[in-house]
Amino acid sequence: MAVEWTGVGPDLLLSLDRSDPQPLGRQLQIQLRDAIRSGRLDRGERLPASRVLAAELGVSRGLVVDCYAQLESEGYLRSVRGAGTQVAAGAGAPAPADAPTPHGPRLDVDFEYGLPELSSFPVRDWLWAMGVAARSATTLDLGDEPGLGADGLREVLAAYLRRVRGSAARPEGIVVCAGFRYGLNLVLRALAVEGATTVALEDPGPADHDEIVRRAGHTAVFVRVDEDGIDVAALARTPARVAVVTPAHQAPTGVLLAPERRQALVQWAEQVDGLIIEDDYDAEFRYDRAPVGSLHGLAPDRVIAISSVSKTLAPTVRLGWIVCPPHLRAAVGVEKHLLGRGAPGLDQLALAALIESGRYDRHLRHMRAVYRRRRSVLVDALARHAPHVEVSGLAAGCHAVLRLRPGSDEPAVVAACAARSVGVYGMSRYRSEHRAEPPELLVGFGNVSETAIADGIARIASLL
Ligand SMILES: Cc1ncc(COP(=O)(O)O)c(C=O)c1O
Repeated sequence: MAVEWTGVGPDLLLSLDRSDPQPLGRQLQIQLRDAIRSGRLDRGERLPASRVLAAELGVSRGLVVDCYAQLESEGYLRSVRGAGTQVAAGAGAPAPADAPTPHGPRLDVDFEYGLPELSSFPVRDWLWAMGVAARSATTLDLGDEPGLGADGLREVLAAYLRRVRGSAARPEGIVVCAGFRYGLNLVLRALAVEGATTVALEDPGPADHDEIVRRAGHTAVFVRVDEDGIDVAALARTPARVAVVTPAHQAPTGVLLAPERRQALVQWAEQVDGLIIEDDYDAEFRYDRAPVGSLHGLAPDRVIAISSVSKTLAPTVRLGWIVCPPHLRAAVGVEKHLLGRGAPGLDQLALAALIESGRYDRHLRHMRAVYRRRRSVLVDALARHAPHVEVSGLAAGCHAVLRLRPGSDEPAVVAACAARSVGVYGMSRYRSEHRAEPPELLVGFGNVSETAIADGIARIASLL
């Protein structure tokens, strides 16, 4: 987008060399022409008023006026009544032909995995909370945040996590960060300072976590997930001392870590003197019963629980938290300090106000009802149009897993659905080595309206 300058003109990197035998007017022309050709000055961008530029360069206004007139006659500039002089629409560097297009094929219905309903972001409540934050922030709050995050938010979060997630969190044990991934990076980096280790990941599991593990200096191993969650016996056969798990709603299969596996996982951590990193990403949205408590409540010294508001508010808010055992806090704090502190302070105060006022809970209640209706529409549409398809993973969250007929070509089905303008996503992306067996599809319904869900399933049913 071209910059629309108001008041004083834009700062232009122009310099005239008075020792150069070339006349100043000519130097100015060359530099402006180059700036336009190279794209430093964008099409439609407004140039400084001749008077302002003349004063800045220490030349007469007439010299700048002549230069602008010359470039206008060459088609580089145009003068617009009331809007000064601008770079002409046809001038300058053309947009690169091979610029990557940010969007894939146009989809009428996109069952994108992992997205909450974005248009329900509680704008009014967030504005209210930002107002509270900005008005109540002390001068101290406007400085660098305290190392582990805003104290007010850490207190509110600890109370919230104890109340809603059955966590054993205390304010001093919470480190505020910029979302789950950021938190995972901090923890893995902090552990790497003590020495690289082997980190077990669920298979299938969230995308990119193996890369995050490796970049933090550790080794990643995969441990299979079955209908009861991560296979703890298989985990025990690996050299891992750290495991990253999604116990409340396995990502992406949607299964719950069975009670006996929860116990076994904690015992494994005790036996190997290891740690469990709990990804508690969408437990607030549970439909068949009350949310399953956080693993952290079971073994506060062995579990590092990380969560964020990416599912409850919106991913762009980039606010999350780590519930951290005492022996790791300082090390995680150091990583956070070195990595740029992590989360904007005013937003932290706003989130505290949102939770403390009850608006956050109210929003969650509202969204739970929205997702519950969408989930029913999805189940009904599948029962009606594709009754043979096995559906799972629907006890919580905003996505379902559809098991295709054995032998189905998962990537081909994904492509065929896209050809009908419906986006569905293959499970293979989330498996180690991207195995497409058994063939399964992920169907996110968080950000898809009820009508679109029914329409989308009807369109692709014959392909399933
Ligand atoms: C499995 C899983 N963990 C965590 C998150 C949240 O990540 P972040 O807080 O970095 O947005 C998501 C979001 O989609 C997720 O799917």
